[in-house]
Amino acid sequence: MRLARRTGLIKPSGTIAMAEKAREMERRGRRICRLDVGEPDFDTPEHIKEAAIKAIKEGFTHYTPSRGLPELREAIAEDLERRGIQADPKSEIIVTPGAKHAIYCACLSTLDPGDEVLVLSPTWTTHFQCIEIAEARAVEVPCGEEYSLDEEELKARVTGKTKMILMGSPNNPTGGVLSDGAVRAIVEIAEDNDLLILSDEIYDRLVYDGLKPISPSSIGDRERIIVVNGFSKAYAMTGWRLGYAYACREIIDSMTRIQQSTTTCPVSFVQKAGVEALRGPQADVERMVREYDRRRRFIVEGLNEIEGFRCTMPRGAFYAFPDISGFGMPSSDFCLRLLEEKGVSTTPGSIFGESGEGHIRVSYANNIQVLREAVEKIREFADDLWR
Ligand SMILES: Cc1ncc(COP(=O)(O)O)c(C=O)c1O
Repeated sequence: MRLARRTGLIKPSGTIAMAEKAREMERRGRRICRLDVGEPDFDTPEHIKEAAIKAIKEGFTHYTPSRGLPELREAIAEDLERRGIQADPKSEIIVTPGAKHAIYCACLSTLDPGDEVLVLSPTWTTHFQCIEIAEARAVEVPCGEEYSLDEEELKARVTGKTKMILMGSPNNPTGGVLSDGAVRAIVEIAEDNDLLILSDEIYDRLVYDGLKPISPSSIGDRERIIVVNGFSKAYAMTGWRLGYAYACREIIDSMTRIQQSTTTCPVSFVQKAGVEALRGPQADVERMVREYDRRRRFIVEGLNEIEGFRCTMPRGAFYAFPDISGFGMPSSDFCLRLLEEKGVSTTPGSIFGESGEGHIRVSYANNIQVLREAVEKIREFADDLWR
């Protein structure tokens, strides 16, 4: 059978591939420390679950408007307003089945074949995949393990084909957060060169040390900025598939047309849960952030004590991105051997873009006992390699 050419454009997701290998080993009875997963180990807060159950019991089980329930769009607009951002819930917000689908709809709405997207790298693999599906080309702007921008590097990569800048701060995989100055520079460069900005802010509530990252949408022109966010990370709702985007009316209308013709709408009762997540108590989010913070310090300290590891302190999300280049092997080999020999599952930095090589992504969305065991096993692995 000859599949459509476009299927060949999409590289398989490296994160999912590693997770599947780890799961397969678990199925065969092997104990695996799972530091590959990009999802909270916490359960969805009870009051959010109750809202969905109530909605189902009340028969709220039918289609909703394609761009999402008006009530949820209003709750999102209120939440944005609290953060100093104005978005009209009627025309400038779309609710999607997961942030991933919002990125897909945004790319299909704005990119033509041959367009170039300046991608602040390393970054989440889906960013590259959605650009590929739109038949555009990702041009990486290396930001290193601290995810810090060199403005001149960004400017130097702008060509006549550049259409968009894609940023994801707090960043997956590094846990880095762009400085306010860097965000301002991105907005300025986009304005000077008539570019769009796609800003993936899914980890914006998971920040530490009192950090308050700014969004380009709080300073730049709405006509050129698309912000994607969602409920998966902050509210531990990965399986519910609920995300959203806000942008100017024209882009949101186009994204709605794509959503209408692909998934119709996000799940009705899940959207009710989303209203509760945003309008209900936020104590669970605060509790989870405090716990991630504790784990962050533990894992970074533990990894830095291992010979050959150098790990900067992440400031957001739930990932550490240690440099393992001293071991002189590709990150994919390093991760595979670490998994097979010691039962610790991590993700090779190389899948997050060219500048990710020489690093591994360690997710600390796992309990501290597992992290302690994992650090011990990684230490043994490193010792074996030095021997
Ligand atoms: C940067 C980033 N954006 C979006 C997502 C996915 O969000 P959702 O579960 O809402 O599709 C992830 C998940 O790993 C992510 O790392």
